Amino acid sequence: MTVSGTPAITETAISQAADAAIAAFSAATTVAELRLARAAHAGEQSPLAQFNASLKSVAPEDRATAGKLVGQGRARVAEALSAREAELAVAEENARLAAEAVDVTAVPSRWRTGSRHPLSLLMEHMGDVFVAMGWEVAEGPELENEWFNFDSLNMDEDHPARSEQDTFFIDPVDAHLVLRTQTSPVQIRSLLTRELPLYVVSPGKVFRKDELDATHTPVFHQIEGIAIDRGLTMANLRGTLEHLARAMFGEEAQIRLRPNYFPFTEPSAEMDVWQPNAKGGARWVEWGGCGMVNRNVLRAAGIDPDEYQGFAFGMGIERTLQFRNDMNDMRDMVEGDIRFSQQFGMVV
Ligand code: PHE
Repeated sequence: MTVSGTPAITETAISQAADAAIAAFSAATTVAELRLARAAHAGEQSPLAQFNASLKSVAPEDRATAGKLVGQGRARVAEALSAREAELAVAEENARLAAEAVDVTAVPSRWRTGSRHPLSLLMEHMGDVFVAMGWEVAEGPELENEWFNFDSLNMDEDHPARSEQDTFFIDPVDAHLVLRTQTSPVQIRSLLTRELPLYVVSPGKVFRKDELDATHTPVFHQIEGIAIDRGLTMANLRGTLEHLARAMFGEEAQIRLRPNYFPFTEPSAEMDVWQPNAKGGARWVEWGGCGMVNRNVLRAAGIDPDEYQGFAFGMGIERTLQFRNDMNDMRDMVEGDIRFSQQFGMVV
């Protein structure tokens, strides 16, 4: 039953050829691979096609049996092929759908909204406390004339505070410009340009040659206030500061004044605030400086100290934020880590 090149048609030979075809179909994992397997095992050059072609040379009495064997083999192959085709088509369709899927419940990616720094927010909030009492908010330059920063505030050339404050002087030195070491110069500017009576707060950035550590930063913020009116006394100063303390730290807040010295106020006091819930126990902590405006400062601004009196005060915004939020390390405020600001809410 052998014809040139093609092996004899036996049950084993046909089922081997069909098994090989079916194995090749299931090994194909894509429609393209299946197409190749189909050409090799069901195409015109495939073993089964060759068996089929060789049927004509099979002896007539054996042809029906051989034909049936070949036909059954080809039928198995055709069936396996279309089953695999269907499977792969479904798999490819599913993969395509999965790749194109849109999760309508997914949170859309959006740009992070920026936020204002807690120090800016607090500084503004403190200003608002005064605005609510009818005060005005004034700003001044950060690069300040030495005269406004020191001389006008009764701090002479050789005044110890002038070097104590470790100032950033700007080149050339004879330009007499400094990075302001306090916001008090804004008070002098206000005295010179505004009408009396006068109630002004000046929040802003100040600079001193301090190393950055847990309790110091070379750039920090202050809010200072000055009030000039007829008949003002220490009682007005105390009441104002007490109100601010309550606005900042709650109705229970208390302040105390300790005698101190500032060249631009007389008498002068250091102001402490009572922290009942401080870590390590309740305590008084220093919050700012204050006093009655020195008569020399009033005179320098052309104001008659017998007619008008004034009080002034100044406190650090960083310290206020520390006390309000029980923060130990000031460096957290200046390092710019967004996670720090986020704790205070993303207020824009
Ligand atoms: N300017 C002072 C300081 O920076 C604080 C202060 C302000 C004291 C006003 C008295 C009156 O230390």
